[in-house]
Amino acid sequence: MKSIVKSISAPELATVTDLNQIEQRAVTEAVNPLIADAFALYVKTKNFHWHLYGPAFRDYHLLFDEHADALLESVDVMAERVRRVGGTTIRSISHIGKLQTIEDDNDELVPSNEMVERLMKDNAMMAKALRNAVDVCENHRDSATANQLQDILDKTERRKWFLFEILQGNR
Ligand SMILES: [Fe+2]
Repeated sequence: MKSIVKSISAPELATVTDLNQIEQRAVTEAVNPLIADAFALYVKTKNFHWHLYGPAFRDYHLLFDEHADALLESVDVMAERVRRVGGTTIRSISHIGKLQTIEDDNDELVPSNEMVERLMKDNAMMAKALRNAVDVCENHRDSATANQLQDILDKTERRKWFLFEILQGNR
């Protein structure tokens, strides 16, 4: 089919796109680490949801679950954008491990206030990375991916804001 631009994926995984290979690659390389980070932060947020203790249990337990749901939802949105522009995306836990910039948290015991602080910092880092990726997509003619990332950025900033206000209230 003539309208299929040479894709960066295997021919079987190619898609119909007017983005050239440089543009496809730029978007794919900007978005895949964000997906890895969303997975990493999803697991960390669930980890804290499961291992909470102390007086704030109910509030934080529910809040962390809400945040985890939003993170998981963003994963599919971003991965399908990568596929739509002809790239390939996350294939495994080890692939996530290679691309993630948000560090895993294997601490045995984390006080609830410390959980909030760690999640706030990770969400702030994620917001910064999303903003940078929006620029990459816009500079490579992919406004559709940029738009999706902007929406995810807004939700990330909402989480950051909630976590920050909790920290302020606890001081
Ligand atoms: Fe749960």
